[in-house]
Amino acid sequence: MYKSLIFNKDILSADQFTKDNLKQIIEVAHKMRRVVEKQKYSQVLKGKVMTALFYEPSSRTYGSFISAMQHLGGGFIPIQGVTYSSVSKGETLTDTIRTFASFSDIIVLRHPEIGSAKIAAEFSPKPIINAGDGVGEHPSQALLDFYTITDHFSQVSNITVTFVGDLLNGRTVHSLARVLSLFPKIKINLVSPQILKFPPELLEKLKQRGVIFYETEKLEKVIAKCDVLYITRVQKERFSDLDTYEKIKHYYILSADKVSLMKRKSIIMHPFPRVGEILADVDLDPRSVYLTEQMRNGMYVRMAILALVLNKTVRI
Ligand code: NCD
Repeated sequence: MYKSLIFNKDILSADQFTKDNLKQIIEVAHKMRRVVEKQKYSQVLKGKVMTALFYEPSSRTYGSFISAMQHLGGGFIPIQGVTYSSVSKGETLTDTIRTFASFSDIIVLRHPEIGSAKIAAEFSPKPIINAGDGVGEHPSQALLDFYTITDHFSQVSNITVTFVGDLLNGRTVHSLARVLSLFPKIKINLVSPQILKFPPELLEKLKQRGVIFYETEKLEKVIAKCDVLYITRVQKERFSDLDTYEKIKHYYILSADKVSLMKRKSIIMHPFPRVGEILADVDLDPRSVYLTEQMRNGMYVRMAILALVLNKTVRI
């Protein structure tokens, strides 16, 4: 039985997690994995309803939250692409939030504006889970990424993680870097073109926690030394000038010959979608976990988050 550390809490930023929170979420996610593998479902969330309110496209986050709710016996209101909701009539975010808060017990929100989840939480009597607020954060993705990492490296504090790609706009990187900075002995390499560098204010904040960061444009400088290679797509929707996007979109392309330089026990992660930055030959490499574990873990971790936010105690 788990006495939830995040009962009734909004999940807005990866900064809100302590090591104890992480430990509990990881343990419960492990149990959820067993539930799905052995008995397929549980009734832990019977009678609860989740609204999935997505103003931006999504496949994995949306699908895994809904699947998580279903595996736990709960119901859901699916709003993907707000075209068919009153948002298209001009309804404000706060009115929409208050509406769905009256029909459901928790709201999972994806929205293009940074800070939108925080605003939603101020108006919502029910917990809000930030499923991506523009270029801001994506805390549930950080939890599933962290879970995937801990599954491979029991001593998270001694590893080297290399982030590659659009580090300026990639919210999954922003959130995962925040989580990893709770382990100051970790080394983090930031590999990006000049114009897509990790936000300097965030970098300063994380450096203050004692983590050593190394910034470079050249993947070949660090590829042989890392334990986790976390590659991301260039975020087209954040560019006002598409010519620049076209020039830069394939700045890094991971191929099997580059992967052959990596440590034998390293792992390759990607939050997906990929749009050309990992070639198909890399999928067959045993170090690639993006299409397998990382994706499945999304569902287990979201089962854990939903169960812990919605219940004071969780019996599984
Ligand atoms: C990411 C996102 O939406 O931030 N996708 C996801 O949730 N797995 C990454 C991306 O869109 O590039």
